[in-house]
Amino acid sequence: MKVDGRAYRTIWPTPDGAAIEVIDQTLLPHRFATRRIENLDRAIAAIKTMVVRGAPLIGATAAYGLALALRSAADDDALESAYRGLLAARPTAVNLRCALDDVRAVVAPLAPTKRAEAAWARAGALCDEDVALNRRIGEVGLPLIEAIWRERGRPVNILTHCNAGWLACVDWGTATAPIYLAHDRGVPVHVYVDETRPRNQGAALTAFELGQHGVPHTVVVDSAGGHLMQRGRVDLTIVGADRITARGDVANKIGAYLKALAARANRVPFYVAAPHTSIDWTILDGLAEIEIEERDPAEVTHIVGRLEDGGVARVELTPPRAAAANPAFDVTPAELIDGFITDRGLCAAREQNLAALFA
Ligand code: MRU
Repeated sequence: MKVDGRAYRTIWPTPDGAAIEVIDQTLLPHRFATRRIENLDRAIAAIKTMVVRGAPLIGATAAYGLALALRSAADDDALESAYRGLLAARPTAVNLRCALDDVRAVVAPLAPTKRAEAAWARAGALCDEDVALNRRIGEVGLPLIEAIWRERGRPVNILTHCNAGWLACVDWGTATAPIYLAHDRGVPVHVYVDETRPRNQGAALTAFELGQHGVPHTVVVDSAGGHLMQRGRVDLTIVGADRITARGDVANKIGAYLKALAARANRVPFYVAAPHTSIDWTILDGLAEIEIEERDPAEVTHIVGRLEDGGVARVELTPPRAAAANPAFDVTPAELIDGFITDRGLCAAREQNLAALFA
């Protein structure tokens, strides 16, 4: 997608092939800058500190991180240690493990001298695949939006949470892919963007990318969704996923569960858009089996924003030393989800439907 008219992906190899470059998401929306990552430690740090974030992009960065690690040492021990280090960077999104398993499976049978090059090529291919998967999610989700437009004859109001946009992926986004396609094809859409405290991925990132693409949108506080739904101002909710269990429970950014409850109470369709790389076939019960990342409470007690003089500053919101907790994700049970928008097609949030779609 474009930033100031120039097409970008969120991650790409530098022209000399010595490193990768990523968009530094900790600086958005106030500053657009890229960051070079040339070794394993920097790849791990970029994932941990959320320079890169969003399930698919975390996976893509980890794939390149493994390739960079193998340039320094590529024997079995080095491969295993880089794999473990990257896997531990963030616990909830399964795309991280999926990408690492993929690259490891490609390189493990090779002689150590061949591994770095093969891993680099595979990481690049995974990025291309991510773009294609998300584009396909867009095609699959578009008819849902078109149907509402035809039925109601006015712009379709879609609520989304966190950033499941192109910044969370390599391109297109998951929840946003149908929205971008609808907009590009002349279907009028308007997006309610949950600000998504504590890190404000909605206010900072989703609003940034929708604005850059010209998609009409309104940022709302996280607690506004129920009110908007009660008054018929939301036609459809689409969120992304960090991990989907085999029976259709979904881990996503903290607060997504509350939107699903409000959507069900108000009969607003609630869809989860995700590629097959977000499905963890090894688990069933999301509540019992998905590890929820606990992040630094300082993300709750403090906030970053632009001052009136244009400078960017971090300020404290709470009384000094106030206790704060920061669970970064929650689990929406399958029964609250009307359907999945996947790269293979639409699917009910049920074990047998998911299994049939991906058989
Ligand atoms: O903590 P983050 O910013 O990595 O969380 C991201 C989300 O929760 C996204 O909505 C999710 O990864 C879906 S991404 C297409």
